[in-house]
Amino acid sequence: MIKRPKYHFTPKQNWINDPNGLCYHKGLYHLYYQYNPKSTMWGLMHWGHAVSRDLMTWENKDIALALGGEYDKDGCFSGSAIEHNNELHIFYTGVNYKEIKYKNGIPLSANLNAFTPTEMHAVSKDGGMSFEKLEPAVITDERFTDKVHVRDPKVWKTKEGFYRMVLGNTEKHRHGSLVFYKSHDLYKWEYEGKWFDTSFGWGWECPDFFELDGYEVFMFSPMGAGDNIVPNISMYLTGRMDFQNFDFDWENKGLLDECSDIYAPQTFMHDGRRIMIGWIRMLHPFDGENYTGMMTIPRKLSVKNGRLFSYPVEETLSKRKEKVHEKTANEHKINIEENVYDMEISFTENTNISLYQSEKGDGFYINYKKDESILTIDRSSALNGYTGIAGYEKKDIYLPLNKKVDLRIIADNSIIEIFINGGEKSAACVMPSNEKGIEIKSSGELKCKIWRM
Ligand code: FRU
Repeated sequence: MIKRPKYHFTPKQNWINDPNGLCYHKGLYHLYYQYNPKSTMWGLMHWGHAVSRDLMTWENKDIALALGGEYDKDGCFSGSAIEHNNELHIFYTGVNYKEIKYKNGIPLSANLNAFTPTEMHAVSKDGGMSFEKLEPAVITDERFTDKVHVRDPKVWKTKEGFYRMVLGNTEKHRHGSLVFYKSHDLYKWEYEGKWFDTSFGWGWECPDFFELDGYEVFMFSPMGAGDNIVPNISMYLTGRMDFQNFDFDWENKGLLDECSDIYAPQTFMHDGRRIMIGWIRMLHPFDGENYTGMMTIPRKLSVKNGRLFSYPVEETLSKRKEKVHEKTANEHKINIEENVYDMEISFTENTNISLYQSEKGDGFYINYKKDESILTIDRSSALNGYTGIAGYEKKDIYLPLNKKVDLRIIADNSIIEIFINGGEKSAACVMPSNEKGIEIKSSGELKCKIWRM
């Protein structure tokens, strides 16, 4: 059996996808998530719920939001949370299919494009454990939006003091767009404007819009913006948004994650930090397991020179136990008891890092070629027959020439997260292996530290 992660949230059983309603409310961090309680595959979407005091260990709670009303009889799709007058308000997309048949919680036959989405509003008076559904927040106006693919409300309070909602949308399946609504009380919403860009795929899911370090950041999951191997990816744009004319003048774009196992990330603010959690996609369970999908370790976001950095929250440091390795040398060979560790490593010369290495030599490879400044991540020899990887098995990552490379690697049994140069680039990689060998070789002296976690 492939070991479960210790610090990455996984459901006890069945399917999860997007993080929803991330927030800090009444002394707890809340992680809601898309959850099918009936199957290890996507289907009847509820909001599952977990809470944490330290962002590192999560306690499972009962399902917070179930389908069943007039507008959400077939699903409570993704959305967000906002605290108001000491109560927790959530906004999500209710889904009602015209015709659908299910078997064991998985849609069997349906025209998956024949549904009506409604942007729903619900409120919790018991600290986020359960929600009372209210009237829909917004029945989207067909003059402005696609009838079907408009969803995933993200709501925030503006500097001016009113509330704004952004929805992901498509323009006739040709390109993605955003629709904005505004409200003064969270109950009455009016259409405000829209923005689109024809460069990124055919439709946008899970939009998030926020100000950070003097930039406006648009984080989204554009469908069809990737390639044939990974069509749906997560990205960011940074720039300046003119909310008078709904013109987003973006300067920089980037992948949220280099291997694209991550999808549908969401952020929230707490303690002055912009914290992000992303869904780590799995297409099906590991052999013999009964759950599908994981969440990233929460990351703190920042923007430097227009580039979005994401780096594990400081709370990860408090989970470091004893240091099991610290050495500066050309070669390192480390015996580790368990693949649950935090590693820091820096180098300038050609370097080969092999993790989860088996006796045969298969493993998770990170290879740096100095001349081309390419860091290659390659997990293809360590998949052990698992066919549920959603992102790239092998990826070349281009780094600035002639610069020292700093890596922080958090291995957590069946998932590895790699942060390059302070989080300017990152890669989360599902790893279906329990092999434990660590071997590093470099043509220059290289510094490596490892803590057990
Ligand atoms: C993204 C997504 C959202 C939708 C949800 C349904 O992964 O497709 O757009 O709300 O998942 O589970």
